[in-house]
Amino acid sequence: SGGVVTIDPGYKNTGSCQSAITFLNGEEGILRYRGYSIEELAEKADFLEVAYLLIFGELPTAEQLEKFHADIKAEAHVDEDVKKILDGFPKSAHPMGVLSSLTSALIAFNPSSVNVDSEEDMYNAIVKVLGKFPVLTAWAHRKRMGLPLDYGDDNLGYVENFMKMMFNRPNKEYKANPIVTNALDKLLILHADHEQNCSTSTVRIVGSSHAGLYVSLSAGISALWGPLHGGANQAVLEMLEAIKLDGGDTKKYMGKAKDKADPFRLMGFGHRVYKNFDPRAKIIKVAADEVLADLGVNDPILDIAKGLEQEALSDSYFVDRKLYPNVDFYSGIIYRAMGIPVEMFTPMFALGRLPGWIAQWREMRLRKEPIGRPRQIYTGENLRSFKPVNER
Ligand code: SDX
Repeated sequence: SGGVVTIDPGYKNTGSCQSAITFLNGEEGILRYRGYSIEELAEKADFLEVAYLLIFGELPTAEQLEKFHADIKAEAHVDEDVKKILDGFPKSAHPMGVLSSLTSALIAFNPSSVNVDSEEDMYNAIVKVLGKFPVLTAWAHRKRMGLPLDYGDDNLGYVENFMKMMFNRPNKEYKANPIVTNALDKLLILHADHEQNCSTSTVRIVGSSHAGLYVSLSAGISALWGPLHGGANQAVLEMLEAIKLDGGDTKKYMGKAKDKADPFRLMGFGHRVYKNFDPRAKIIKVAADEVLADLGVNDPILDIAKGLEQEALSDSYFVDRKLYPNVDFYSGIIYRAMGIPVEMFTPMFALGRLPGWIAQWREMRLRKEPIGRPRQIYTGENLRSFKPVNER
């Protein structure tokens, strides 16, 4: 109906909203949450503090952080009937599919969180999901391992408790390792938000119909699962493993990546916005060296990754296309050193991105953004008349 429509596949040149949460400068490789540099936050803040900052806009005072954590802990349980849903999945189910389903199912057990309009109701829905999501994530892992579900320990920090829920054994209590806790806390901070990426845009558009926070997050989890997005961290490790099995022949994989006939993607490379080094990849690469050294882990995969990076940074195909390692290239190496299985890498990304999705959903609802409904250019058939089946 009139009006000029310009098509922008993948929204490469389209801004979907105004936002005060995260600032990216792709040319210079800058990332800031609410004005604070990612380098400072990764060094000096902890994940729950950053979650509060992203969602509410300011770094919390000690009292605010304590209340936030207490409110989250009060919700760090899920209805026993959720186990019946989890039991319905085969052990082989990918945890991202399990998590998307269980997060959506939260709505059935928390109907008051369906359509929240007041800031108070939003706060309650937010602390509920920040409390329950780590439980669901750890349970998805334990389900795959055939382990009894575990609630961890309320006296532990947010990240420590998550690791306990993941690795506690009936016959061997998980002992928090500060090296692992600090490294994971930093990784979660680095994943916490990234302006209007695919999964965040998904959360915003589902939320824009006022469908509610949990189902919007469930949609975001599904979008993140894709190997072009958060699923890349799993795909990177599988690629590095394949290269290792191939005798470490990184040149062969570089060649495959340039073969237009069979467009193999060098997973963990390239980015829609960063046309320079992803600042998160820089921090994670340093952390990988530190964590593996601290844990006394010698993983040849790390050397293969570094070799691949070096070759790509000096190969005109990648340099011309400004393809640098992104956040997913090194993160899996650290997760693996922590004993996290590769199928859980993308759920770890989701755990980190949860506060960012929440912050973006909250901003969209508080700003009363309109329902997302783009137009199109129609390229189908002109008007034609129906033919009865015996005339077709
Ligand atoms: C994340 O958006 C975000 O912010 C996402 C994220 C976040 O925090 O939310 O940062 C997290 O998703 C990081 C990206 C993880 N994905 C991967 O590592 C998968 C591999 N990367 C690519 O699929 C790709 O680089 C994307 C998806 C990341 C970006 O794709 P674009 O912007 O649509 O770029 P493109 O596909 O148009 O590629 C441009 C050119 C093409 O070559 P030409 O057609 O111009 O000859 O670069 C080539 C592509 O073929 N190319 C690659 C490549 N990525 C792009 N060639 C080989 N290997 C790659 N990885």
